Amino acid sequence: MSVELLALPDAQAVATAVAERVCQAQLAELRKPLGLATGRTMEPVYAALRLQLGLLKPQEQQAIRDGWLSFNLDEYVGLAADDPRSFAAFMADQLQRPLGLRADQVRLPDGLAADPQAEAHRYATALAAAGGLGLQLLGLGGNGHVGFNEPPCAAQAPCRCLELSPATRAQNAGAFGGDAGAVPARAITLGLVEILAAERILLVVTGAAKAGILRRVLEEPPHDNLPASWLKGHPAVTVIADAAALAG
Ligand code: GLP
Repeated sequence: MSVELLALPDAQAVATAVAERVCQAQLAELRKPLGLATGRTMEPVYAALRLQLGLLKPQEQQAIRDGWLSFNLDEYVGLAADDPRSFAAFMADQLQRPLGLRADQVRLPDGLAADPQAEAHRYATALAAAGGLGLQLLGLGGNGHVGFNEPPCAAQAPCRCLELSPATRAQNAGAFGGDAGAVPARAITLGLVEILAAERILLVVTGAAKAGILRRVLEEPPHDNLPASWLKGHPAVTVIADAAALAG
């Protein structure tokens, strides 16, 4: 079991490298939907992507706009798409509006669905109908989650609604005025099933705060208590990390 590891000096170099891969993927004629993530790690990635896409020839930019279809990993239960703390709002700010995409080209689970479990099923069905994921971008949670697949999590876990851990709510409190109690208690996330079915996976990890968990992911055999470790069973996964994240 081996993982390709691309070690780069800093978060900017990581962002540039990830954006280059996304650009290449989006220029491929026959491509599956793009899998996207939210979080602080992705902000410089999406800034680099906006920049690089803006440098392409006008007809290439148009082709990417016309053919864009992405599915995000997750969304909080209870937040409307226009709530600034929702992942839908993050994606609208970071990519959908700046790139001139229609809202239905940048898909996320509906956080306001009356039945979140049924919404998870609907979302997974829509993804499957679109052909499943091509390139999947992933960040790494401080507790080893990917998407919102909280530990413990089996490799067979499907798209679902689940309870967020206190650690994750604390990690994501920044967008909620620093109050972990204000972070929604539940989320809808693609499962490891849908993630591991992607053609290619990029796990993007930056910053010293992720060094300990990244080392565990790289060193430990796959197990339920470290959901990201299941990625090592995928045939085409690349970990792109900066020096700070690799210093653990
Ligand atoms: C969040 C998201 C993940 C994200 C991860 C890391 O909870 N659900 O998709 O990749 O945790 O977040 P950050 O990049 O802010 O450290």
